[in-house]
Amino acid sequence: MDKIAHFVQKSDCNATTVAIFGAIGVAVVAFKALSFLKVLVDVFLRSGINVKKYGAGNGGWAVITGATDGIGKEFAFQLASKKLNIVLVSRTESKLKAIAQELEQTYSVETKHFVMDFTKASEENYQALQQFLNPIEVTMLVNNVGTNHEIPTPFEQETDKVIKDIVEVNINAAMKMTKIVVPQMITRKSGLIINLGSFAGLVPTPYLSVYSGSKAFLSSWSQAIGAELAPKGIHVQNVNTFFVVSAMSKIRRASLLIPLPKPYVRSVLNQLGISGGASTPNTSTPYFSHAIANWAIDNLFSRAFWVNHNYKIQVDIRKRALNKREREAAAAAKSQ
Ligand SMILES: NC(=O)c1ccc[n+]([C@@H]2O[C@H](COP(=O)([O-])OP(=O)(O)OC[C@H]3O[C@@H](n4cnc5c(N)ncnc54)[C@H](OP(=O)(O)O)[C@@H]3O)[C@@H](O)[C@H]2O)c1
Repeated sequence: MDKIAHFVQKSDCNATTVAIFGAIGVAVVAFKALSFLKVLVDVFLRSGINVKKYGAGNGGWAVITGATDGIGKEFAFQLASKKLNIVLVSRTESKLKAIAQELEQTYSVETKHFVMDFTKASEENYQALQQFLNPIEVTMLVNNVGTNHEIPTPFEQETDKVIKDIVEVNINAAMKMTKIVVPQMITRKSGLIINLGSFAGLVPTPYLSVYSGSKAFLSSWSQAIGAELAPKGIHVQNVNTFFVVSAMSKIRRASLLIPLPKPYVRSVLNQLGISGGASTPNTSTPYFSHAIANWAIDNLFSRAFWVNHNYKIQVDIRKRALNKREREAAAAAKSQ
């Protein structure tokens, strides 16, 4: 009798344990399904803050770094089409002038340009840029300029110049530009700062370690200053970007996961203030396929899995890049 009672008690206990774990499992799956649904609603159904809030059509200026190519150039065109005046900053004066002229003619906005190489920028250069920007009403800053390792490279083999350039362009330029424009935004209690982040900042990327670290800095720093500046009326948004067709990505053909700059920037501007696939504050992953990838990274498998996944991809890219270099060197030697 005792044995039967013990057996009944034990199976009750087992059933309760199974029920508890079952309920936890259902809750976890339901939570994940809901978070995935939220991503879809964010990227397909919601509209973000209208850029009119940041001076569009009302005399406001958007300052864009790295504005003559790729994503930065597209920001210049789309923001001008929304009637923001545009300040273009990058290295090549001829490209700056040509784009400024095209923007003025196409969208009847005002433009200014400033030649700056952020790898070499001195305190005096930044002071000159501050003097240049102080008289205008800067309502938006797009910290877009970025540079990367030439090819995936083990950290100990990377040149000091590449390491320094990445830190100067991806980290210091964003901080310096922000310090230049934020005081006037605080005075007006309004402003938008967009930082061009990367999936390399979301998942550490071996062989692109300095670039990856610089984008992780941007992510963390955006969240920190985002909290500081929100009560002062300024919105900070780190934009988590997977691949986009551009000179930097060295990808020429668009695909489901890799958009052209135009649809990519459109998604950023349509979803200001909306997280999309991102799960950290002051961060947005707005492009639909990037958002789903971001959700998968955050919700499926461990971070170690994704780092290892990145490692394998970069080892393969490095091998192909080195082979290409060898072929080019051989062809050059042959033609001499
Ligand atoms: N494309 C992607 O797949 C991807 C993915 C994730 C994140 N991102 C981020 O998105 C941002 C833009 O990338 P992108 O692919 O559009 O780059 P891109 O097509 O190579 O354009 C870079 C722009 O920056 C300017 N620039 C480059 N170095 C500069 C320097 N030292 N000083 C001043 N200006 C400089 C270039 O003009 P000049 O040469 O005339 O100066 C150009 O206007 C970067 O922050 C990048 O990290 C891109």
